Amino acid sequence: MAAETLTPEKFGALSPAQFFARYREIAGFSNPTRALYQTVRELVENALDATDSHGILPNIKIVIRRSPENPSHYTITVEDNGIGIPPQHVPNAFGRVLYSSKYVLRQTRGMFGLGVKAAIIYGQMTTGNPVEIITSTIGSKRIYYFKLRIDLKKNQPVILERGSWRKIRDWHGTIASITVEGDWSRAKRNIIEYIRRTAIVTPYANIVFVSPDGEIIYYKRTITKVPIPPKIVKPHPHGIDLELLKEMIKHNSEKTIKDFLINSFHGIGYKTVDELLRLIKINKDKKVGFLTENEIRKLANILRGIDREVILQFKDSGKYKTLLKMLQEAFPWLSKEKIIQAIEYVNKILVDKINKKQLERLNSKFDPTKLKIEHIDALVRALKKYYPRIRPPSPSALSPLGEEIIIEGLKRVYEPEFIAAVTRKPLSYQGHPFIIEVGIAYGGKISASDKLVLVRFANRIPLIYDESSDVAWKVVKPRKDEKDKKGKKEKKEKEGFDWKAYGIEFPAPLIVFTHICSTKIPFKGVGKESVADVPEIENELKLALREVARRLRIYILKKKREEEKRRRITVLARYVPEIARNLSIIIRDIMGTNGIEPLLREKLIEAIAVRTGIDKMKIMKAIEDVGIET
Ligand SMILES: Nc1ncnc2c1ncn2[C@@H]1O[C@H](COP(=O)(O)OP(=O)(O)OP(=O)(O)O)[C@@H](O)[C@H]1O
Ligand SMILES: [Mg+2]
Repeated sequence: MAAETLTPEKFGALSPAQFFARYREIAGFSNPTRALYQTVRELVENALDATDSHGILPNIKIVIRRSPENPSHYTITVEDNGIGIPPQHVPNAFGRVLYSSKYVLRQTRGMFGLGVKAAIIYGQMTTGNPVEIITSTIGSKRIYYFKLRIDLKKNQPVILERGSWRKIRDWHGTIASITVEGDWSRAKRNIIEYIRRTAIVTPYANIVFVSPDGEIIYYKRTITKVPIPPKIVKPHPHGIDLELLKEMIKHNSEKTIKDFLINSFHGIGYKTVDELLRLIKINKDKKVGFLTENEIRKLANILRGIDREVILQFKDSGKYKTLLKMLQEAFPWLSKEKIIQAIEYVNKILVDKINKKQLERLNSKFDPTKLKIEHIDALVRALKKYYPRIRPPSPSALSPLGEEIIIEGLKRVYEPEFIAAVTRKPLSYQGHPFIIEVGIAYGGKISASDKLVLVRFANRIPLIYDESSDVAWKVVKPRKDEKDKKGKKEKKEKEGFDWKAYGIEFPAPLIVFTHICSTKIPFKGVGKESVADVPEIENELKLALREVARRLRIYILKKKREEEKRRRITVLARYVPEIARNLSIIIRDIMGTNGIEPLLREKLIEAIAVRTGIDKMKIMKAIEDVGIET
């Protein structure tokens, strides 16, 4: 019997540290090459978060040293002049997975409370070496030193050495050193590229890099303007889920629901609270600690608001037979009559206005699995009529670079002849504010490339790996030539960007820069290498790209016109000396007048100048350049 040969299942638990030790690929530590790169990245990100996010002009020094004992071991040391770490937090910040000062709503590079620990764990597993930290906060009189390792099983720091000494000069910041197994020769290219791209978004930073071969790369600060630091904001109701709401309720159980909503969320005022509570029929003076499970559910539901994602989520569950049933479940605080009204309204506007053929008629019996995106968007618009106005998520939590910094950064690294940059207005997806920035650099010292060069950033982190799965690539990649048969064209939504329409044909000396900032970047993994395609983000990227590409097209057209003009002068100039000479011969023969050639030449140049609008000096220069003997 099969059952006899079966061994019983063994159960156990893993600590977060053990989990990331076992599955370190998830955090980007898949092999020595990638690990060396990732370690540099984690340390640099933390160093920059400690400086520019607090309005400090960063001085960052990155040193990679090859171990004299073992050539595949490397010590990475990153020093910053940031805010430093209070000594009581150092052990956990570096020794406990999922410990962070960045679990607040504010744009920072760090998000997970994992990065530096993943590097330390990898180092510990491959070289056995502990991490060393030297740090001092602003205003502190002492500098602290720690040497520690991580107890994987307990997910706790084990302090091996610690000490402190008095400051003799006014230094603040952090120096962290981690030793890992690495492969410099293979990682070199990506590490140097990573630092270069970091330099693009931080023209206000001094960055020094010393490689294991002693090579030094120095990016000197070119401007002294740091982007305005992001502020910590309250959560937006649309970004809330049941678990989070319960957690917040636990900490505010003494408050009335009215005060709780006004104080704990962004964008909810007195009027909105009254309307929301009326819809879910909860007394506004009820203490949140006394809310029933059912009331909490209703509250969580109504706070999420009405958006595409909510409908998609219900639609994808596939368990609803009719549209009416589905919407009733998705928005239980809306009466049946209102939902039916909204459906009828949508049917009317869609069938009247857009794409009559493609859209099926909606009614309350409609099969929800057949909903198209146009249906959903129109339903959202119709249903929103019954939802109180809530202010959009606050952009003060964000810190975009701004056009000036993007232009300066691209200039410092690429030295192009043309640059344009756009910072779009803040918008939100699922309750998270975001801003899209796009830049374009063209010509100058950029060499022409067959493949479009995209430099991607998210919360000022350069993203180097997994380009093809990133939403930015989906938007900027050159659109394939469509040689397809008629009819099919309309059906397939076109991906990519029509560069030809903007005067660009590859190979082209072109760099496209994209930056997404948000309090929550929808990364596809904890290694933070690619961003998921959220429709709102994708759309903003498209709009921003079109705007900079339009400016580039104008520049290219102008340049072409000037080239054409120059070509024409050259053609005309070629004839001036010859015509002048021949005419002077004729005149001398007929009229006996000598020495008239220079005068004729002058007259001809004048005539060309009048005709073409080109400066006389330029024409004379062109005559010299074509080198026609006179
Ligand atoms: N150079 C530094 N200066 C100041 N604080 C630092 C520095 N390095 C680390 N920290 C502190 O240690 C914490 C943990 O860092 P870690 O890289 O593990 O996580 P994180 O940066 O918060 O998130 P992520 O996992 O996304 O990197 C940070 O939140 C920060 O408070
Ligand atoms: Mg970090």
